[in-house]
Amino acid sequence: MRFSFQRCGRPGAAEGSESQGKKMETIIRGIEGIEEAAEIIRRGGLVAFPTETVYGLGGNALSPEAARKIYAAKGRPSDNPLIVHVSGIKDAEPLVTEITEDARRLMARFWPGPLTLILRKTERIPRETSGGLDTVALRCPENACALRLISESGVPIAAPSANLSGKPSPTEAGHVAKDLGGRIDMILDGGPVGIGVESSILDLSADTPILLRPGAVTAEELSAFLGQKVGIDPAILSGTVSETMHPRAPGMKYRHYAPEAEMYLVTTRLFRDRGEAIGREERELSDRRTARWIRERAERELSEGRRVGILCVKETRPFYPPDSPDGTLSVKVLGSREEMLTMTRSLFRLLREFDEEKKDRIYAESCSDRGVGFALMNRMRKAAGMREIIL
Ligand code: TXA
Ligand code: MG
Repeated sequence: MRFSFQRCGRPGAAEGSESQGKKMETIIRGIEGIEEAAEIIRRGGLVAFPTETVYGLGGNALSPEAARKIYAAKGRPSDNPLIVHVSGIKDAEPLVTEITEDARRLMARFWPGPLTLILRKTERIPRETSGGLDTVALRCPENACALRLISESGVPIAAPSANLSGKPSPTEAGHVAKDLGGRIDMILDGGPVGIGVESSILDLSADTPILLRPGAVTAEELSAFLGQKVGIDPAILSGTVSETMHPRAPGMKYRHYAPEAEMYLVTTRLFRDRGEAIGREERELSDRRTARWIRERAERELSEGRRVGILCVKETRPFYPPDSPDGTLSVKVLGSREEMLTMTRSLFRLLREFDEEKKDRIYAESCSDRGVGFALMNRMRKAAGMREIIL
């Protein structure tokens, strides 16, 4: 397959890009394209590739020019450091001043997997890649295509999520093509991802380990494994960052993805206070109450001429009406509560769909904050700009 995209008309992100003004062809290939992709990385070009979390936009992590191209293609501020992808502990060694005892144990236990570790960098990592910091974020993805790409390239691969800055992270190749088609050399299509929210980030560069971003590897798991309580960066808990706050992950200070629609999370006090401890009957009561409120609100919005999206779970879908034929109301199912990974995998795709359907409002049921739910709710709260209605 060969696709070509127009460069023009996309939101101001390509400014300053080397290839600005030139029409760039973005090749889309399946995993048979890995060798060609590796060649592109070695030449200093950009390749989007699948990982188990989200698609990444990769370039040679040792090349300042490649890093600059990544920032330009995404329209991302260049003080927001990139995650460096390696194929194992051996690759990581020359990039950091020391692999501490904790780091080594964590790598052995959780790599390959959705855990990014922040360590002090050596000068092999250019400041362009680390956003001017003395530390570097390292991760070994659990995806055969990604691992082969790293090995074949022979260099560590710097890769942020492969979305335009301000859009949700891409969970399938089509999302990447939509955002970055015409701006990058190649997209490796490895099908939809398995996890769907970005990796957990653990900072090991200070005295105590601190979680900077929640993901599929949870704080509880990390604390239990390290035998020491892992701190949680306040920027995660507050969800927003004030002028005076200096979040340790620079990315947290930028406005995060929010859909075009005004999004609201809805829950009951009962569920918010008691969470998983809630009994079956109370849970049903809470679900019905939430659904009734959302239904009534949706009807009012529709009668005022707005387009409405509802985000619920499989268990509560029967409480809502069918989608309207004219597209003004659509109800989307994140997945079953029993399968947290189905829910994380669906979130960004469904939010993109609501954008495409030009919804004005989205009402989403709040989910459990427990375990991986903490990562899911973190992304949902950001998308909702922290608007949460408690009944
Ligand atoms: O799952 C993932 O981690 C995906 C896939 C592609 O691997 N990547 C990803 O990258 O989500 P990105 O660039 O969208 O998010 C990286 C986050 C940013 O918030 C950035 O500020 C933070 O990691 N970060 C990177 N290096 C850091 C460092 N040295 N210190 C603190 N935070 C850092
Ligand atoms: Mg990102």
